[in-house]
Amino acid sequence: MSIKTEADFNALKKIGVIVADCLQLMASKLEPGMTTLDLDKIGADYLAKFGARSAPILVYDFPGTTCISINPQVAHGIPGAQVIQPGDLINIDVSAELGGFFADTGGSFIVPPIDVKKQAVCDATKRALRAAIQSAVAGKKLNSIGRAIENEADKLGYTIIENLGSHGVGRGLHEEPKFIPGYYDPDDNRVLKENMVITIEPFLSTGAHEVDDSGDGWTLITPPKFLSAQYEHTMVITKSKPIIITQPTKFLMGEH
Ligand code: CO
Ligand code: CO
Repeated sequence: MSIKTEADFNALKKIGVIVADCLQLMASKLEPGMTTLDLDKIGADYLAKFGARSAPILVYDFPGTTCISINPQVAHGIPGAQVIQPGDLINIDVSAELGGFFADTGGSFIVPPIDVKKQAVCDATKRALRAAIQSAVAGKKLNSIGRAIENEADKLGYTIIENLGSHGVGRGLHEEPKFIPGYYDPDDNRVLKENMVITIEPFLSTGAHEVDDSGDGWTLITPPKFLSAQYEHTMVITKSKPIIITQPTKFLMGEH
């Protein structure tokens, strides 16, 4: 969507903070021995407190409130009986709707003990997200996002999961501009416009170039020898730097 009024912006910001705080809360509760369904329940209870509705359920009839993917699962993992183990690299993706507005955020977290290789792929993916956010300026081509991600990945020695991308969001979970590649596509002539609402969500890996369906119809995986991470924010494009919609509140960050 494109933000047209102050009311649009405020409504988007409201759901943006809810999903961001929900993600932080879930990450803070990560503990070995709990199941991914236990973790999902924490997210579901939090969203329910605000009357927010899970976007994956609302839009795709996904069998879970949030997507929880334990490596080598990369995305769209179904919360269930899987028990979280020490050392797991786990991705939590929270998207939800409130009053007709959608926001989408995600992040990868390591359950201690922290493995240096897992930490490194997380750090690299965060850097790629920061670089991509800085490149996302109204008037520039949409492919500057993929170019920024690719530059960081190359510099740090990581591959990009090419069949997962960023996307327009706001009035739906996935809307125009659809599929913003995480790599540089010189033939993509689409342009970033002021007030456009998009996610940026790089997926970096220690060697995988794509994810495959795991067979359950949802979960996307790589071969187990690879590690992957993703960080995602929803933002509004401006003539300077984007306004991040999914910034968690300090209160929640400090409390948990
Ligand atoms: Co997401
Ligand atoms: Co997304």
